Amino acid sequence: MCTLHVPLLAILVSVALCQYYDYDYQPVSVLGPSGPNCHQECDCPVTFPSAMYCDSRKLKFVPVVPTGIKYLYLQNNQIEEIKAGVFDNVTAELRWLVLDNNQITNGKIEKGTIDKLSALEKLFFSYNNLTEPIIPPSKSLDELKMMHNKLTKFPSGLLSDKENLTFISLQHNHLTSEAIAGAFKGSKKLMSLDVSHNKLKKLPAGVPSSLEILYADYNDIESVGTGYLNKLPSLQYLRISHNKLVDSGIPSGVFNVSSLVELDLSFNKLKSIPEIHEQLEQLYLQANEINKIDLSSFCKYIGPSNYSHLKHLRLDANNVTSSNFPVDYSQCLRQNPDIMFE
Ligand SMILES: *[C@@H]1O[C@H](CO)[C@@H](O)[C@H](O)[C@H]1NC(C)=O
Ligand SMILES: *[C@@H]1O[C@H](CO)[C@@H](O)[C@H](O)[C@H]1NC(C)=O
Ligand SMILES: *[C@@H]1O[C@H](CO)[C@@H](O)[C@H](O)[C@H]1NC(C)=O
Ligand SMILES: *[C@@H]1O[C@H](CO)[C@@H](O)[C@H](O)[C@H]1NC(C)=O
Ligand SMILES: *[C@@H]1O[C@H](CO)[C@@H](O)[C@H](O)[C@H]1NC(C)=O
Ligand SMILES: *[C@@H]1O[C@H](CO)[C@@H](O)[C@H](O)[C@H]1NC(C)=O
Repeated sequence: MCTLHVPLLAILVSVALCQYYDYDYQPVSVLGPSGPNCHQECDCPVTFPSAMYCDSRKLKFVPVVPTGIKYLYLQNNQIEEIKAGVFDNVTAELRWLVLDNNQITNGKIEKGTIDKLSALEKLFFSYNNLTEPIIPPSKSLDELKMMHNKLTKFPSGLLSDKENLTFISLQHNHLTSEAIAGAFKGSKKLMSLDVSHNKLKKLPAGVPSSLEILYADYNDIESVGTGYLNKLPSLQYLRISHNKLVDSGIPSGVFNVSSLVELDLSFNKLKSIPEIHEQLEQLYLQANEINKIDLSSFCKYIGPSNYSHLKHLRLDANNVTSSNFPVDYSQCLRQNPDIMFE
């Protein structure tokens, strides 16, 4: 997803960057004369003096950050280490720290750097060589991106004081279910969690009830715990595609919750269609082993106000064709959904 609503030069830059990552959050850089205190390797536009742009210039180190900088861009360099002291003049000011696409390892982050940042709101640390998360003490952290690293653990309680943490992206790491047990407890405003492309055997435990989006595609998930979704009354989008789900791992009614709008169970090993709630609108089941279709998966009761709101249903790459579809479906599937069989 790459929305672009910035001037032409920035569009060109964004298009290049968007090849692998969404840089939509970057304030428009109007490059011009630099502010007086700027580090010589970087640009600090006079029109936006609280930002320092040090991205894409083959830097091997994090430069000393001058007083007054709140937004620091260091993505697309060759940074391997963060030396003590570089943030000393901005520990209570720095709000955004963007370190994506470098080569930083945990052992090369000295004490007295990120562990001193008390006002950080966004930490973007994707495409690096981290094996453990680096979490600043700031209670104001609202967005944490650490995708495409080598994380093998995420200790419990690290985020427990982050009352405003809303988005967490951890896709493409080496996290197991045990490694993230309790990791997300206490983040009472967490809305979106992406743990796709890891090594989970089950959906993450202990996630806060505020969650609206949970993506866990490309893991090794075989089952969903009974009542898992009952603890997530706000969950609207759930993706568990490309896992190892089998019918016996889907307890009766586990997806039958009224909040869910989209459910992606594609590329698994299901033989039958799980029961869903009548409010669900999008159901992806392509590339499973489904060999029968039963209307009771969609509607247990049919009445004037009781029918399935399904709008899209994918059943392609299964062992069913339109001839397997019950002829009397129109009272149940009253929204006349698009159903894809091949
Ligand atoms: C850091 O702050 C000190 C004290 O205010 C100041 O003398 C020094 O020039 C600052 N350094 C930078 C890089 O801003
Ligand atoms: C970071 O990881 C990449 C890819 O695995 C590797 O080529 C590179 O040498 C690593 N860099 C460091 C500093 O560990
Ligand atoms: C959390 O966000 C609210 C609303 O934006 C803000 O008033 C509050 O100060 C934030 N809390 C912290 C610890 O930053
Ligand atoms: C879903 O749960 C409701 C109760 O919330 C129940 O009335 C309904 O029959 C269930 N639907 C299916 C398809 O199991
Ligand atoms: C029938 O629809 C009403 C209103 O949408 C809902 O409250 C009720 O739970 C539904 N009954 C069943 C059995 O699904
Ligand atoms: C596919 O369905 C047909 C008829 O519904 C059945 O005879 C066949 O065994 C099924 N194949 C698989 C692999 O389940």
